Amino acid sequence: MIRVGVNGYGTIGRRVADAVRKQKDMELVGVTGAHPHYKYAVAKEKGIPIYALDMKSLQAFNAAGYNLKGTLNDLLQRVDVVVDGSPEESGVTNKAAYQQAGVKAVFQGGEEHELTGESFVAQCNFERAVGKSMVRVVSCNTTGLCRTIGAVDKGVGVSRARAVLARRATDPDDVKKGPIDAVVLDPTTVPSHHAPDVQTVLKGIPVVTMAFKVPTTHMHLHSVILTLKKDAAADEVAGALQAAPRIILVDGKSGFRSTANVMDWAREKGRDRNDVYEATVWRDSVTVEDREAYFFLGVHQEAIVVPENVDAIRALAGGYTREESTKLTDDSLGIAHR
Ligand SMILES: NC(=O)c1ccc[n+]([C@@H]2O[C@H](COP(=O)([O-])OP(=O)(O)OC[C@H]3O[C@@H](n4cnc5c(N)ncnc54)[C@H](OP(=O)(O)O)[C@@H]3O)[C@@H](O)[C@H]2O)c1
Repeated sequence: MIRVGVNGYGTIGRRVADAVRKQKDMELVGVTGAHPHYKYAVAKEKGIPIYALDMKSLQAFNAAGYNLKGTLNDLLQRVDVVVDGSPEESGVTNKAAYQQAGVKAVFQGGEEHELTGESFVAQCNFERAVGKSMVRVVSCNTTGLCRTIGAVDKGVGVSRARAVLARRATDPDDVKKGPIDAVVLDPTTVPSHHAPDVQTVLKGIPVVTMAFKVPTTHMHLHSVILTLKKDAAADEVAGALQAAPRIILVDGKSGFRSTANVMDWAREKGRDRNDVYEATVWRDSVTVEDREAYFFLGVHQEAIVVPENVDAIRALAGGYTREESTKLTDDSLGIAHR
């Protein structure tokens, strides 16, 4: 069993913790908490051991009636791999604690690539992370772009990629951020940070991205344009996307007319927290004109990196092929395995 800890129990950490609990080759040793909150009461009900982030947090949890197992330092003594789900840019401080404890670590996309020197999307570069001491799972948008651009590159060949990202404003439980009545250029310059981030994984493909935020919490929606290396029909591009792991094709005729419909589909499927782990491509948008392929791509920001985190744990632990790891992960989360 791979003994796993989760440091940072927010949008991503909570989901990764539950996904780890579903793996037959992993044990969730515990999660950390900074401030008492109902999510920790629910974790306790589920039987998840909770550790305080530090002594100050321990006092706050004790005052709120929790009887915690200790602090992050105690948790690190008991695990093989820690998943860092802390707020972005906390990774530098946390990395020192993990190294001191001799624990392997999976970081998230809010950290710089340079923190670990290895950025991860399972279907693109699982092998590069095998046996390493740390790795960074790229952000939700970068994951969606890498899966889909990588799939078309494998099936048809891609010489250049461009994408315009309509980004969700914030996560559903975050009441402090907007916008509520504006489209915010994020950033006003080109490219957005997503293009260089994709290139940390797909090293040979030139990419340009532009991004803006819109008033929704559901999902991100990308308009993707790929220059193909050879003439290909739309069916071939769709076939390459269909053949790749962790991509689903939906269409307007079946009722998928918005990101809200994709979330509703996940609800109907009975997915945990309505999570859509797959990159969602609208089949009817897949079009080829003058060797350029076009499609719409939906990304459920809260969920798409969850299977990647589970595979990153196995890559660091070693002893698994990409195929073995992704099958275990996909079967446990209800993702159709290809
Ligand atoms: N949310 C997304 O859509 C999304 C998608 C992909 C990747 N990411 C990346 O995933 C990472 C986590 O994002 P998130 O959205 O899950 O954050 P979040 O919801 O704000 O959760 C962060 C958690 O970290 C805890 N925490 C606070 N300070 C900490 C520290 N110094 N060390 C460890 N834990 C600490 C907080 O505890 P308390 O709640 O107890 O205060 C909270 O549970 C970031 O790198 C982000 O860029 C986020």
